[in-house]
Amino acid sequence: MADMDWGNQTTITKFLLLGFGDLPDLQILLFLLFLVIYITTLAGNILIIVLVVADQHLHTPMYVFLGNLSFLETCYSSTILPRMLASLLTGDRTISVSGCITQLYFFCALASTECYLLAVMSYDRYLAICKPLHYSSLMNTRVCLQLAAGSWVNGCLAITIFTLFMLQFIFCGPNKIDHFYCDSIPLIKLSCGDTRVIILLDFILACIFTLPPFLLTLTSYVYIITTILRIPSTTGRQKAFSTCSSHLIVVTIFYGTLMIVYLLPKLDTLRFLKKVLSLCYTVLTPLVNPLIYSLRNREVKEALHKAVSKYVTFTRNIENPI
Ligand SMILES: *[C@@H]1O[C@H](CO)[C@@H](O)[C@H](O)[C@H]1NC(C)=O
Repeated sequence: MADMDWGNQTTITKFLLLGFGDLPDLQILLFLLFLVIYITTLAGNILIIVLVVADQHLHTPMYVFLGNLSFLETCYSSTILPRMLASLLTGDRTISVSGCITQLYFFCALASTECYLLAVMSYDRYLAICKPLHYSSLMNTRVCLQLAAGSWVNGCLAITIFTLFMLQFIFCGPNKIDHFYCDSIPLIKLSCGDTRVIILLDFILACIFTLPPFLLTLTSYVYIITTILRIPSTTGRQKAFSTCSSHLIVVTIFYGTLMIVYLLPKLDTLRFLKKVLSLCYTVLTPLVNPLIYSLRNREVKEALHKAVSKYVTFTRNIENPI
């Protein structure tokens, strides 16, 4: 995309991403805060990927999807945080038009892939809890592979259509985006052409590509919860619930904050609140997912424990050979 010729199409070649520039005294503090968040996010998610790939016990559909989710979150936070960190550090808040559309593309593609992966993960839990006898035949390696691949393809497809439309845009000012990353609506607002088609397209694509995974997730959990409530013994209920509770928490945080931000009325007074809230699904979810999964999940904890003790014996053997 970078080698396309933007010069003769656009009168604006750079946007100003305002970010948190309205808090000048806090720039260094914010930089340190987001740096710590970014490093923790990368470390946590990469740790989960390594555990899922390395540990034989975690080679089940649920953990393969979790590995994919962690990989996705690693990319997801890397589309936003490094640029934000650089601009907090240097004070340079400009971003080129092509850079902005590239960021929009990756951010939206990964966000919609996340919707699909979360849906696939809840479908997997639905099969495990509501159809336990048929689980291994319904969720075999091939289906698992198809579902994971399907999530990535669908997520990228939707946004590619959208971005191809965006590429036709001419931006002629103003060039200020009051956000910390390039989101579609603020960007559409800055275009000087006829934006009705793209706003409609944005809406239709959002409906086609995010509503089905959302509804699938919701339906799965309605079935899961009714099934769990029908289990007679308390321990049985707790056991069934413990296999899906981490995922339910992750889904709730992701969709909850996403909905609050997009459904809040478009008032100027709410703009700062929205900016802070959108930190939840851009920065917070990738950070807390590995924590939720590793703290609440016995199998992940065991795998971590095994990996650590293996590493300790390994280094000990190196230090004291014999
Ligand atoms: C993602 O899913 C694919 C397909 O099921 C799988 O082969 C791959 O190992 C997964 N990636 C991770 C990091 O778990």
